[in-house]
This record gives sequence, C-alpha cells and structure tokens, in this order.
Amino acid sequence: MNNQTFTMPQKKIYIETYGCQMNVNDTEVIFSIMGREGYERTEDMAQADVILANTCSVRDNAEQRIRGRIEQFAVAKKNRPGTLVGIVGCMAERLKDALLDSGKVDIVAGPDSYRTLPQLVREASEGHPQINVILSREETYGDITPVRIDKNGVSAFISIMRGCNNVCSYCVVPYTRGAERSRDPQTIVREACDVFSRGYREVTLLGQNVDSYLWKGEDGEQVDFASLLEMVASVSPLLRVRFSTSNPQDISDKVLYVMRDHDNICKHIHLPVQSGSNVMLEKMRRRYTREWYLDRVEKIREVLPECGLTTDVIAGFCGETEEDHRETLSLFEQVCFDTAFMFYYSERPGTLAAKKYADDVPVEEKTRRLNEIIALQGKCSLKSYTADIGKTFRVLVEGPSKKNPEELCGRASNNKMCVFPDSRHRAGDYVDVRVVSATSATLLCQLVQPSGEATT
Ligand code: SAH
Ligand code: SF4
Ligand code: F3S
Repeated sequence: MNNQTFTMPQKKIYIETYGCQMNVNDTEVIFSIMGREGYERTEDMAQADVILANTCSVRDNAEQRIRGRIEQFAVAKKNRPGTLVGIVGCMAERLKDALLDSGKVDIVAGPDSYRTLPQLVREASEGHPQINVILSREETYGDITPVRIDKNGVSAFISIMRGCNNVCSYCVVPYTRGAERSRDPQTIVREACDVFSRGYREVTLLGQNVDSYLWKGEDGEQVDFASLLEMVASVSPLLRVRFSTSNPQDISDKVLYVMRDHDNICKHIHLPVQSGSNVMLEKMRRRYTREWYLDRVEKIREVLPECGLTTDVIAGFCGETEEDHRETLSLFEQVCFDTAFMFYYSERPGTLAAKKYADDVPVEEKTRRLNEIIALQGKCSLKSYTADIGKTFRVLVEGPSKKNPEELCGRASNNKMCVFPDSRHRAGDYVDVRVVSATSATLLCQLVQPSGEATT
C-alpha cells in the first residue's frame, strides 16, 4: 500500500457583488456557508465552478447592469462546461422564476435562503435549475462568521438586522428583503470581538433603519440601538464603531448622547433626506417633514458639533414640481452636507408609487434637476472639506493612497478621507494629522508629531 494521500481539487466559487454594504456583507456570509461545503473563493471567474452575482434592484440601471453580466457569465459557462451560474440577492427575490426562463441561470436564491445554497448547487449540478426565494421572519445569519472580502483588513461590516418595515413608496427593498428583524446582540458583540482580535480596527453596523433595532430577549430584557452601540463600543477603545443607515424619523437623542460619550463611536451620520419638499416627502411616505429633518440636524450639531453629515436624495419623483425641486435645493444649501448620494427617480414595479402615481417627470427634466443638485452639492462639499483646513484629526490608516503609493490614506472620525505623506505607519495604525488643504472629496494632510507640530 502506498501512503500517498490524494486530495480532491478544491471547488471554486466566484461572486460579484452589486448594491449596498449589506449585500457586501451577505457575500461574506455566502463565502462562509459555501466554504463549509468545501468551496474556495476565487477572484478569477474563468476558474470558477460556481459563479454568483449578488444583485441589487433598487434602481432600474442596477438591474440592467446585471442583465449584461448574465450574458458574460453565459460565455464563461460555454468555455468551462459544468460551471453553474446563480443570481442571488434582491433581483433574485424580485424576479424569481423569470430569471430561470432565459436558460442562462442555474440557481436563483433570495437574501434569506443562503443557508440552502449548498443544496441548491448540488441539485443544480445534476442539471435541474434550482430556486429558493422564500423570505423569512427570523433569519439573521447571526451564527455565521462571514469570510471577510475587504481589501485592507482594517474595516469590517456587521449586519445587525435584516429587512425593512417601512413602506417608502418608491422603494423596492421591503419586497426584496422582507420584514425587519434584529439580530441577537451577543452574536454581534462576539463578531466585533472576533474581527478585533484578527486585527480589524473598525466595524460598521449595518441596517436599513438602524434606529429601529430592537432585540427582545427571552427574559424580557430589551436592547435598543443606543444600548447596542454602547455594547459594541465597549469591545475596545481601539475599535472604531460606525453605523448606517439612520432614518430621520427614528434617530433618537439617546443615540446622539451615546455617540458623544464614546470617543470610539465615529462622529458621522448618514441621514437620507430624499427630498426637501413636504409634498414629496408625504407622497414618498417618509414619516417626517422638512422641518423635522432640519430640527434633527440642529440637534445633531448641538450635541455633536464635529459630526459629519451625509445624505441620499431622489430628484424627479412622481409629480415633483419646480417648486418642490427648489425646496430640495434650499434644504441642501441650508444643511451643507459633506457628501450626498444623488439619484433620479426610477420607478420600481410593485411598489406603492408605481401603483399609485404616474412617473410623470420627463427624463430630461429629472436629469436637469439631478445635475442642479449635484452642482450645488459639489460646492457644499468643497465648503465642508475646506472648513476642516487647520484642524487636527485622528485617522485610522487604511493603506497606501490610490493615487500616490508614497502617501497613506484613512478616514477621520467624520468619515472624510485624509491622505498624507508617510512611510512609517501601516494599515490599522492610528495617526494624528493636520489638514493643510482640501478638495471636495479629500483632505490633504500632514502627520502631526507627538509635540503637536506638523511634519514637513
Ligand atoms: N434604508 C435607506 C435607503 C436604502 S436604498 C433609507 O431609508 O434611507 C438607498 C437609496 O437609494 C435611498 O436612500 C434612495 O435615495 C435611493 N432609492 C431608493 N429607491 C429608489 C428609486 N426607486 N429611485 C431612485 N432612487 C432610489
Ligand atoms: Fe427603502 Fe424606506 Fe426601508 Fe429605506 S426605510 S429601505 S428607503 S423602505
Ligand atoms: Fe441593497 Fe440594492 Fe437590495 S440597495 S437591499 S442590494 S435592492
């Protein structure tokens, strides 16, 4: 007998991720689930036994991009017979069987069905296309340790909840992700401890509406978002905590005070406004007014004077008049966000707005309005970034800057990207920098010596 052992070549899985940070984290969950099944991650599609696209449905152009990719996957499949192609995530949930009709897709799996992926893959490899788009009221993948796919090993995403119970009339997310459910806080803290012990120095707690996080324990004990933030912040003073997304309706003063009281909770709030017009906000079924929003901003700035503030906005929603649009511009002018994600309205089939309102702002008009918002925000960003010149920030180093390998980059607490010449520090280090100049997206800085002097 010879003692030689033969190992089976490991099967490989390739995943492309589209959409929000939660999808990125879901991809990490999928790698973990498939890893247990013996699948190794590859970044080379041509070598993959399983190709997955983790998809987004939030706007039509997100879906169009994926349709294009399905054609590309079909080519890869032809070149390597036996390769399986799967569409997972929000578009899988929205389109269901229709995705199988093309004959180019072997697996369709919605966001709550990832535990069944190994089985779906096994059965699909026998030539039977598989689908699982059942949404769950309980699934949080709380016990699964995601396989991190970030490039820097410094900053990790942790999903604290899934789904969404709001019904913003334009939004497809409640249909693709199902009802809101919160994850057991102990599993969240454990995951934060785990990433910290592996060298990570920042976690971002993710949810569609983090302020409605609520865990009810068996003993009647309740943990809300403010308490969860405190628990995660207590893991280590060296672990930074960020979170996204805050809903203007639900963000509480308690959360602001917890942020103020913990140095390691970053002073940045992403607070999507969507529109500056009360008429639009009501049609959008956002549960706040322009006045409420501005009042929240005022409170944030009172409690957290150095807090970064960013937003999302939709131009050209159903029935939006020039006056409504002007209200959005004036709110942008008034608040002066650091950055904004700006979109024009894209009707999503099945949503309340699609059923109730005509998508009646012509695309040229939507584009013009969007461009006006973008131009104004460009000025506000520059103003906001320039206002930081002369300030000193503690930065968590993420690695070399993209443009110049002799410079490092990292974020200040307020989430602004800082770049600075430095060869001594590494990803994961904390350094103090002084801002010497700014663009509308970057703070150009110099290291501060312990004495407080900026180095040249
Ligand atoms: N849960 C977050 C948003 C998730 S979707 C919140 O409540 O703010 C991310 C952003 O996509 C939204 O903030 C919105 O600005 C944008 N968006 C959602 N649906 C859209 C649609 N149908 N058309 C254009 N933009 C949309
Ligand atoms: Fe969509 Fe509104 Fe839920 Fe955000 S809060 S995911 S915009 S329904
Ligand atoms: Fe995220 Fe897009 Fe789904 S924004 S929740 S991946 S529709």
